[in-house]
Amino acid sequence: MGYRTHTCGDLRASNRGETVQLCGWVQRSRDLGGMSFIDLRDRYGITQLAFNEGWDPQLLEQARSCGREFVLQIRGEVLLRDKANPQLPTGEIEVRVESLTVLNGSKVPPFTIETETDGGEELRMRYRYLDLRRAPLRDNLIHRHNVGRLVRNYLNDLGFLDIETPFLIKSTPEGARDFVVPSRIHQGEFYALPQSPQTFKQLLMVAGYDRYYQIVRCFRDEDLRADRQPEFSQVDCEMAFVEQEDILNTFEGLLRHLLKALHGQEHGVFPRMSYAEAMRTYGNDKPDIRFGMRFVELGDLARGKGFAAFDQSELIVGIKVDGAAEYSRKQLDALTDYVKRPQRGMTGLVWVKHALDGTLSASVGKFYDADDLRAWAEAFDSQPGDLMLILAGGENKTRKALSELRLHLGEELGLRNPAVFAPLWVLDFPLLEQDEESGRWHAMHHPFTSPKPEDLALLDTDPGAVRANAYDLVLNGNEIGGGSIRIYDRGIQKRMFSLLGFSEEEAQKQFGFLMDAFEYGAPPHGGIALGFDRLCAILGGAETIREFIAFPKNNAGRDVMIDAPATIAPEQWRELGLKPGVSTPA
Ligand code: AMO
Repeated sequence: MGYRTHTCGDLRASNRGETVQLCGWVQRSRDLGGMSFIDLRDRYGITQLAFNEGWDPQLLEQARSCGREFVLQIRGEVLLRDKANPQLPTGEIEVRVESLTVLNGSKVPPFTIETETDGGEELRMRYRYLDLRRAPLRDNLIHRHNVGRLVRNYLNDLGFLDIETPFLIKSTPEGARDFVVPSRIHQGEFYALPQSPQTFKQLLMVAGYDRYYQIVRCFRDEDLRADRQPEFSQVDCEMAFVEQEDILNTFEGLLRHLLKALHGQEHGVFPRMSYAEAMRTYGNDKPDIRFGMRFVELGDLARGKGFAAFDQSELIVGIKVDGAAEYSRKQLDALTDYVKRPQRGMTGLVWVKHALDGTLSASVGKFYDADDLRAWAEAFDSQPGDLMLILAGGENKTRKALSELRLHLGEELGLRNPAVFAPLWVLDFPLLEQDEESGRWHAMHHPFTSPKPEDLALLDTDPGAVRANAYDLVLNGNEIGGGSIRIYDRGIQKRMFSLLGFSEEEAQKQFGFLMDAFEYGAPPHGGIALGFDRLCAILGGAETIREFIAFPKNNAGRDVMIDAPATIAPEQWRELGLKPGVSTPA
């Protein structure tokens, strides 16, 4: 019969009277004197096992000696419970145990293996294999598997080919630092782990594989956050003979397919917004459009009345919070403190209350009369009961702070419901951004992104104004994907590298293989990569991707379970031709 006939999630009332074998872990046991129960758990569910002195006193003793997380194999008969447990799918039945084998014992686990555990983050990361036994993490991994399956089905049905690309490569410029791997055979030389398969997927297009995808691991040595890991997965895709519109439609279709299959939600055509509009109306290139509070600029309506903080500032911009005119002094002070924190660095927050009786009162009332405030209220389209919050200062800093305040309020007012999904395309990103200190230009997406043909002429005169055929897919305020139409002309690619400050030799050395390939019939092409971990997390109603990765790194980039990164043996240093603490060949 093998180890088991059923899983711990299988049995129902219809199995009554059957003799079954189960294997699993002791979730908990309850001893009621003459009888005892064990909840046996596996990844499929929990089944109650019953032991009774009257049936078999020796078995009852044996059951009592099984601690939490012991691994058991049992055989017994399926009985209907006197009182069903509606919380459990198997709650109608229990198994009257006839024989029990302890397959393995277990130490007492360092935290409780329950939905709500008492274990701290660090401890749970150290014993990740125990944490993974808990239902929330198990459900997240099953969800991840399902998202992956749906993604593959969708792309396979459209004729995409799943093609693997190498991990031991040379630097790809995605804007982060590379993780490097020293070569033993070629001492002093290093591989880089891919930040993405970008150049390879473009070479696949040159090779004629016009629809490629891969759910692939990428590696980036960058500072960690809740939505970033040093190794993460992308749904990486590329298509040939396409325009931006084809890619947007294909991948909008993918997300629509996921939302339908996972949440039963029908979504129509996704809204689109230019990068410029996103920055102007939300102060952010990945706006959360589950709620409004669009930015309103006051400009001349607020200048020239003697309020120095406004008169001297580059930008005066605010948001309207519906129905928040009742906010107390304390609540307003807390919001003011929020924008004054060092990371935002604003000097203050101006508020205007639009009372239910229509009167307007402001924290800066002595500079502005009723007519001024009425003009502001009109600009905000404010209704009685609303609250206006206004910031002023340097343009970038003010937009950023107001964007954070907006998200903070959205959170506070419960407007960021994780069960509501609001996808958005952000289009027309600038091709380049300038480093404030060095004045150097960087590719905003990556250097293979094509400028918009109509902006090509600006490349030499006003590079900052050149827009790219680049797009991001945003879901609930998170960037879940990004891509572009690529350059496929050697000349333009060369020009791009020179704009980015590469000498001709450097460009040839680093990317000659790609520019050479462009001389052998490169088709027009473009693509996108979705952050698979982020996609899983957000579709699973969460934002911390760690909870959707089986073995993630902690906030400091460490795997505390296997203790990595770690030192290597002197012998390994020697073999690699390296000296401890020295990065050049020994
Ligand atoms: P990009 O760099 O925008 O594009 O990455 C694509 C998506 O990957 C996710 N992502 C991450 N997820 C978790 N941890 C990280 N450290 C991390 N970094 C990025 C994001 C992001 O939108 N080669 C291009 C794609 C293309 O042009 O086709 C690329 O990698 O969700």
